[in-house]
Amino acid sequence: MIRFDEKNKVFLLDTENTSYGIAVVDDRYVGHLYYGKKLRDTDIRYLLREDEAPFTPAANKRETGSFLDCAHMEYPETGMGDYRESAVCIRSMSGHRASEIRYEGYEIIQGKPALEGLPATWAQDSQCGTLKIFCRDSLSGMKITLLYSVFEGLDALTRSVIIENEGTEPFYIEKVLSACLDMDDRDFEMMSLAGSWGRERRIQRRPLGYGRQNVASFRGESSHQEHPFLALVTPGTTQESGEVYAMNFVYSGNFIAQAEKSQFDSVRMTMGIHPEGFTWKLEPGERFTTPEVAMVYSAEGLGKMTRTYHDLYREHLIRSPYLHKKRPILINNWEATYFDFDEKKLLEIAKEASELGIEMLVMDDGWFGKRNLDDSSLGDWYVNEGKIKGGLRKLAENVKKLGMKFGIWIEPEMVSPDSELYRKHPDWAIQIPGRDITQSRAQYVLDFSRNEVVDGVYEMIAKVLRSADISYVKWDMNRQLATLGSYALPADRQGELSHRYMLGVYRMQERLITDFPELLLENCSGGGARFDAGMLYYSPQIWCSDDTDAIERLAIQEGTALVYPVASMGAHVSVCPNHTVGRNTPFETRGDVALLGTFGYELDITKLSVEEKAQVKIQVEKYHKYNDLIREGDYYRLASASENGSYDSWMIVEKSRRKALLFYVQTLARANTKSRFLRLAGLDPEKRYSVGEKEYFGSTLMQAGIRILPESGDFKSRLIEITEAGTP
Ligand code: GLA
Repeated sequence: MIRFDEKNKVFLLDTENTSYGIAVVDDRYVGHLYYGKKLRDTDIRYLLREDEAPFTPAANKRETGSFLDCAHMEYPETGMGDYRESAVCIRSMSGHRASEIRYEGYEIIQGKPALEGLPATWAQDSQCGTLKIFCRDSLSGMKITLLYSVFEGLDALTRSVIIENEGTEPFYIEKVLSACLDMDDRDFEMMSLAGSWGRERRIQRRPLGYGRQNVASFRGESSHQEHPFLALVTPGTTQESGEVYAMNFVYSGNFIAQAEKSQFDSVRMTMGIHPEGFTWKLEPGERFTTPEVAMVYSAEGLGKMTRTYHDLYREHLIRSPYLHKKRPILINNWEATYFDFDEKKLLEIAKEASELGIEMLVMDDGWFGKRNLDDSSLGDWYVNEGKIKGGLRKLAENVKKLGMKFGIWIEPEMVSPDSELYRKHPDWAIQIPGRDITQSRAQYVLDFSRNEVVDGVYEMIAKVLRSADISYVKWDMNRQLATLGSYALPADRQGELSHRYMLGVYRMQERLITDFPELLLENCSGGGARFDAGMLYYSPQIWCSDDTDAIERLAIQEGTALVYPVASMGAHVSVCPNHTVGRNTPFETRGDVALLGTFGYELDITKLSVEEKAQVKIQVEKYHKYNDLIREGDYYRLASASENGSYDSWMIVEKSRRKALLFYVQTLARANTKSRFLRLAGLDPEKRYSVGEKEYFGSTLMQAGIRILPESGDFKSRLIEITEAGTP
């Protein structure tokens, strides 16, 4: 619900348990009042500290500078005296960079407007309200609309900004962030996700100091290294307690997420497109829409934040027809064969897999052009009939005869220098004339800022998809952007390339899922470099990491599931020694870890032992038994091996709280230890639950815990069912 107190000029945006307060100051400035637990009063202007020095400008005409430098603002301007991070900076044709963001009016509407060309959360009119605050910089004619959408059933709100040029001259947007939150510091700690290839999204936490601390990417993708997520938490915040202010960007390109602690101990938290290398020329009459930030406040620790994001994204972001369905259990040939395969090998794998209950064969990289290594043919999207004799249609038909679906890998944004496409259209690659293009994995990035490039690649890929019965596509992106230049953009628009590139990627993904509505799309980027909320708008699942080792995956999946629904995490069972880290883990553990995600296999199933094949059958049964619960339930993190070094544990609880599943893995075994009482979470304290042969109240299981005996041997996992007593 959105309330406006006309007398006090206060907006209050309420969700079930939270309020967000905004005030108009001096009829000119849009000030920030409050974000936190729900408030009943609307007369909360005292939170502006208007009567404290340096006063508001109207009361103190000779001193606007220090007001601007300390007031809590909703969308801070540049160049007028607020020296903290600004949210927007435009350069006029005269070369000046200042702007004054002054309040003009507001509108409250039911529902949530779509954001032009961008992924965004969506909602029915009855589920969401949107506040639009209109501001203007009169000298430049820049109109700014601040958008706040409030999801009533969820403690989440989204923010985005529209800049319009209502002046008579063009101006250049040099920076335009999507959200800003000013607050008093409360000894906040900053949480973010960091990593590398094979080590994506590890949770890191550090005290917030004075100055600016940020996480960012200007690699042209959300990246392996840093992640468009930032949370400020009060000291000692745990899974169950503490206050959490979180921002997550619904965008897959360059970003900055920053917290700045200033001289007066206030904190400015910001998120948006990274300004480095960014400029956008806005002609009179044109507008620019920023990607949105999803904000969550939790007064009940990190667990509540996580579950709010999971619900928000499951109910209001992901659109796939597969969202609430069990995904077919797939087998992917990448780790089985790499580039060395033909249709015979694939069919051998499919035959064995189908006998064990696997439901879809995915043919990975290497089926097109003349690609037998990673050094050619990206861009030549037609089947290599030397390798796949009889072509895709025949292969898909033969796979189908085994009772399985068929899927393929593509990497549409790329071109190999050794390809017909590059020889025909060398200008389609992103490049700076006169400079060597930075090579990475022997490939160049196509200029997806250009419609003819996107359309040209799309037509080739659509033709492939129409040529055979293809149910699934893995869309990969295996390098980062560099030597940024577009042949299609004039000199003063080159700074638009990275964002226009993302808009091109989104446009093509939208076209793909519109033209092929039944297609199951999985995004991927050299493992998990584009696991973000932007991509989830197009695909219900994203490959989490190229590291498939079950123990490494504990940390990767823990970090990913901190924000994203578990069923969106691409997770497969692979062979040992693991191809990335060389570790041996029990086959059962590999299956249990992959069950938290989409579940599938990435190995040569024809080479498994009889015992391992028997295990596959058991795992397939477990998937069918538990996937509805895992996909739709509430996720609780009980313990983190990254923190305690010896065991990892999570639970999924059905929304009705009648059923739950507990996962426990002992990483390294230790000598001479006692059993551990593991406290469960999320159950109904008043209900009685069966655990094995025994029955307990939910309160006993949550307060005293269940007993976990130490096991002999490393990396042993357990799945334990907890069911309301009397439920079948
Ligand atoms: C990336 C993906 C892998 C695989 C290879 C193929 O690294 O993450 O799963 O598809 O590309 O080249």
